[in-house]
Amino acid sequence: MSKPPTILVFDSGLGGLTVLREIVKARPDAHYVYVADDAFFPYGHHGEEEIIARVVPLIGELIGKHHPDLVVIACNTASTLVMSHLRKHYQVPFVGTVPAIKPACAKSRTKRVSVLGTRGTVQREYTRALIRDFAQGCEVTLVGAAELASLAEAALHGVEVGDREIAAELAPCFVGDRDNPLARTDTVVLACTHYPLVMERLVALAPWQVDWIDPAPAIARRVADLLGPPGIEADAAGAEMIFTSGKPHTLSRALVPFFGGRVPA
Ligand code: DGL
Repeated sequence: MSKPPTILVFDSGLGGLTVLREIVKARPDAHYVYVADDAFFPYGHHGEEEIIARVVPLIGELIGKHHPDLVVIACNTASTLVMSHLRKHYQVPFVGTVPAIKPACAKSRTKRVSVLGTRGTVQREYTRALIRDFAQGCEVTLVGAAELASLAEAALHGVEVGDREIAAELAPCFVGDRDNPLARTDTVVLACTHYPLVMERLVALAPWQVDWIDPAPAIARRVADLLGPPGIEADAAGAEMIFTSGKPHTLSRALVPFFGGRVPA
């Protein structure tokens, strides 16, 4: 039987854990290396050239060190820029995370969809092209949240994050007549992998009920398709967690659920 694959999941910080969690469910046998580029966090505050210059060689180093069978770029801010560069430079299969505009617009009944991402992601030509190609007659509102990724990360670290701060980042997503469910936003795309970390807060602070589109399950299906069916053998070593800052991770217990119950080394 073939040996369990190594899957490298990469993000600027801890947001990619929301993608990892779905992949682990689809491939519990695999060996996982989760890399948080916290030395460069948040990506949303960096320019496009800077992100390409940072991520492309870094992924090359990580491939050289960990020999993954597949790499997931679990970050919209990076994926909307670097996927073609990565595929040009390296042979390993890549799966990216980009705003789920097509399924959101297909689902919206009121034809009002908001895309909540980092300022970088909503400004990208890649994102604008997705809207041109897949809006399907919907009015799409792009909402660049300056601090929501950092707030979500802080909340996962156990820092008290106020409702007001989260609600302020969220508010521009809600467009139209608040008293008429047929004439207001009914679908919000979570276009940053950090946001599902605070999903309950988002739901509680939304001025009205909407469908939230988290692409993580679809990404996990894509990973499973690319890798093919699992063998009988499961990886005994479990998972590794790496911070590019070199800091030891003090969050192990909070991270265990994302790794399917394993304690990342
Ligand atoms: N988690 C990242 C994303 O999906 C970005 C957060 C950041 O570094 O600004 O966009």
